[in-house]
Amino acid sequence: MNYCVVGLQWGDEGKGKVVDILAENSDIVVRYAGGANAGHTVTVAEERFALHLMPSGAVRPGTACVIGNGVVVDPEVLVGEIEGLARRGITMEGRLFISENAHVVLDYHKQEDRLREEALGKNKIGTTARGIGPCYADKVGRSFAIRMADWRDMDGLHDKLRQVADYKSRIFRALYNAEPVDAEGIFEKCKMYRETLLRCVCNTTRYLHEAIEQGKNVLFEGAQGSLLDLDHGTFPFVTSSNASSLGMGAGCGVPMKLIDSFIGLVKAYSTRVGSGPFPTEQDNEIGHRIREKGHEYGTTTGRPRRCGWFDAVAVAYSARIGGIDEIAMMHLDTLAGMPELKVCRAYRIDGRETTFFPCDAEELSRVECVYETVSGWNEDISSISQWEDLPVETRRYIELIEGLVKTPITILGVGPRRSQAIFRNQV
Ligand code: GDP
Ligand code: IMO
Ligand code: MG
Repeated sequence: MNYCVVGLQWGDEGKGKVVDILAENSDIVVRYAGGANAGHTVTVAEERFALHLMPSGAVRPGTACVIGNGVVVDPEVLVGEIEGLARRGITMEGRLFISENAHVVLDYHKQEDRLREEALGKNKIGTTARGIGPCYADKVGRSFAIRMADWRDMDGLHDKLRQVADYKSRIFRALYNAEPVDAEGIFEKCKMYRETLLRCVCNTTRYLHEAIEQGKNVLFEGAQGSLLDLDHGTFPFVTSSNASSLGMGAGCGVPMKLIDSFIGLVKAYSTRVGSGPFPTEQDNEIGHRIREKGHEYGTTTGRPRRCGWFDAVAVAYSARIGGIDEIAMMHLDTLAGMPELKVCRAYRIDGRETTFFPCDAEELSRVECVYETVSGWNEDISSISQWEDLPVETRRYIELIEGLVKTPITILGVGPRRSQAIFRNQV
């Protein structure tokens, strides 16, 4: 069986946890989009792993990990992750495969990300400053792009870096009065990381197709969330890749029709990091309570996450565009103790009610939420392992959302650990 796990909100839905659970029965885990802007948490017993580029399957020793062509690879972060895992007794030797077509994030991308955000001031996107947008822009622009394959020819890479650095330096100086790009320093770092990374570089499309033909189980791990998708998210407050499941095929060369189930990930409420419209946001005591109980602080940047009620209009949209077969809902335990819960079932815009999500940021910023209010529950549900044992209010809450988003909710998260999940139907 091949599964694809993809966020249906604005990221941080718990993809790391669900991928880790499903990886138990997978031979290969594949990242296909985004870069080190992602922060995926896997918690095994008391041990916590925060992975940025490495597929979450890394935590399971027998699982192969693929970084597909759609990912932008920051070599410094990736080598740091390989070394960090090794220090914890987990080796990636012989089981990490990086696409030769994956583009490389270098220091000048991160510099440009920061400079541009600073210049935008209050209009900034609120990026993770990991150089994601500038690297994807170079990919699309082609002339100054550097791919993993370029590391095979170090003289060629050196020449290219000098040319790119000269071009970028002139732009940075003119626009931001910034320091020139240090081509030689960047080249020295590339030389340092080359030994660890180059032996993993290969044609991952071929590797994946051969594995699928041999009947291997492949698990595709989305990054970010569908509402941050470059084409289908809340533009311009999005990331620079197709973060919905629509990016999967292009991001690794495997067609969507080979996927047995697209599993959409949600939290039992909503969160968002960075700028952009967020209709159900609770910038008040309720949001504060969710943030503290759910430890809603960014895995990559440590920024406090904006919190709000579950938005069924937004999730129904993500499920629809992404061809989602089933939903996994995390953080149900976080809602315990709230006397009542609200679920947004429609938007009111320009006097009319709609259940279709307008992804245009300006239009979305004007919507008014129409809420359904239900009773909460007081019980601590974090050690429950059966659907039948959940409080009736919890089950009603899930069934309400299931009806609104018209997709079955099959996996429930009741805590951060691998073991804290309830399976309603076997996936
Ligand atoms: P990702 O980016 O989608 O992988 O999610 P993050 O790792 O950035 O954020 C999710 C956070 O929620 C992590 O700290 C997880 O350990 C935690 N988490 C995941 N599922 C649950 C759950 O069901 N309950 C609770 N309390 N925490 C969870
Ligand atoms: P995971 O995979 C949450 C957000 C940033 C910002 C916008 C653009 O852990 O769910 P970027 O650095 O990509 O140019 O920033 O996207 N963002 C995320 N938010 N989770 C993520 O990843 C994110 N990756 C990017 O906060 O609003
Ligand atoms: Mg995250």
